[in-house]
Amino acid sequence: MPSPRVAVIVVAAGSGTRLGAGGPKAFVGIDEHTMLRHALRGVFAAAPAQVVIVAPEGREGQALTEATEAAAERRDLVSVTTGGATRQASVASGLAAVWPAVEIVLVHDAARALTPGSVFDRVVHAIDETGWGIVPVLPVIDTIKRIEGSRITGVVDRAELAAAQTPQGFRRDVLDTSYAIAAQDFTDDAALVAAAGHAIGSVEGDALAFKITTPADLERARSLVAPHPIAPARSSIDRAARGPRVGVGTDVHAFAGEGTLWLAGLEWPGESALAGHSDGDAVAHAIVDALLSAAGLGDIGTHFGTARPEYEGAHASAFLARTAAMLGEAGWAIGNVAVQLQASRPRFAARRAEAEAALSAALGGASVSVSATTTDGLGFVGAGEGIQAFAVALILPA
Ligand code: CTP
Ligand code: MG
Repeated sequence: MPSPRVAVIVVAAGSGTRLGAGGPKAFVGIDEHTMLRHALRGVFAAAPAQVVIVAPEGREGQALTEATEAAAERRDLVSVTTGGATRQASVASGLAAVWPAVEIVLVHDAARALTPGSVFDRVVHAIDETGWGIVPVLPVIDTIKRIEGSRITGVVDRAELAAAQTPQGFRRDVLDTSYAIAAQDFTDDAALVAAAGHAIGSVEGDALAFKITTPADLERARSLVAPHPIAPARSSIDRAARGPRVGVGTDVHAFAGEGTLWLAGLEWPGESALAGHSDGDAVAHAIVDALLSAAGLGDIGTHFGTARPEYEGAHASAFLARTAAMLGEAGWAIGNVAVQLQASRPRFAARRAEAEAALSAALGGASVSVSATTTDGLGFVGAGEGIQAFAVALILPA
């Protein structure tokens, strides 16, 4: 790969005092991935650039691991430096690691973890057009008041204001010299470069580039990355003529998966796993199909198929809870569910009560009964190749 003309410095060395998560902010999880990892997703979605991550002292190794994972085939473009006591010192540390051939440097807060790649490309494009330093901005929506103590002393015209985000980008020579002569601490890189006498312009920012500073910001980020809710399902049942309804569901899975067995909402250590897009829990899947069929809401493939990657490897509780919610949205309450499992292994009876409790809990407390049988050695169940489950469900208008 030719040496890139753009570098992105991702500052991730802050302590996250206002978030108060008990560790450096960039390593706090949004979902199964940290803030840093999410921020890097945006960085690597943009055109290829050298990427310098500035990590807190002692966290350099973890930063490099995350960066290598996020970078995939661009991993040769990644390096890590150690941050300083202030954000400005951290940026300076990253700047010292920028390769000689780089002409444009973007500085980005890891705390703006959900920033899309398009913002990086927009900033680089504007620098190429103007030669100025470039800041992504959003219009200020609230009315801004001037205050002295608790007293309002004036209004500030919103039209004159913009909220600054990152990545902020600069010609490399401009950023180098501005940092070399900076004699005080500035609030952001654009202020530091402007103080050195250089022009700064703006491009449109992005609402997703908000900075995660407080616990409320983290909650917002979490809700934004959560699996997209499934659109309310369309029922084939005539709403006017509704009474109790039954539904049926069956499922078959082969013993071919990796890891441990998940069945009837429970983990079964020491038993062979079942194959499947999710955890292969045939008991749970039969229940889902029975409930969906009773409500005329399609079947498990309609809602949880391979088109929904967030259910890959998911356990029964996720499917059952979502199914119960879909029925609720469609105006149905669950009467009861009965399932029969046909399996040579595992020996089910000893954990029946536990399984019924787990399945019932996942369905919001609905009654679930599970019976189990072998097939007298006959068929694929008897041969120990797989298992099958049959479920019926009764639902009632809510
Ligand atoms: N940052 C840094 N080095 C520092 C301070 C901040 O690299 N010495 C980085 C942070 O990791 C963050 C970005 O600068 O990505 C913006 O800073 P801020 O949101 O203030 O993060 P923290 O300083 O970690 O948080 P707080 O101010 O609440 O302690
Ligand atoms: Mg700070």
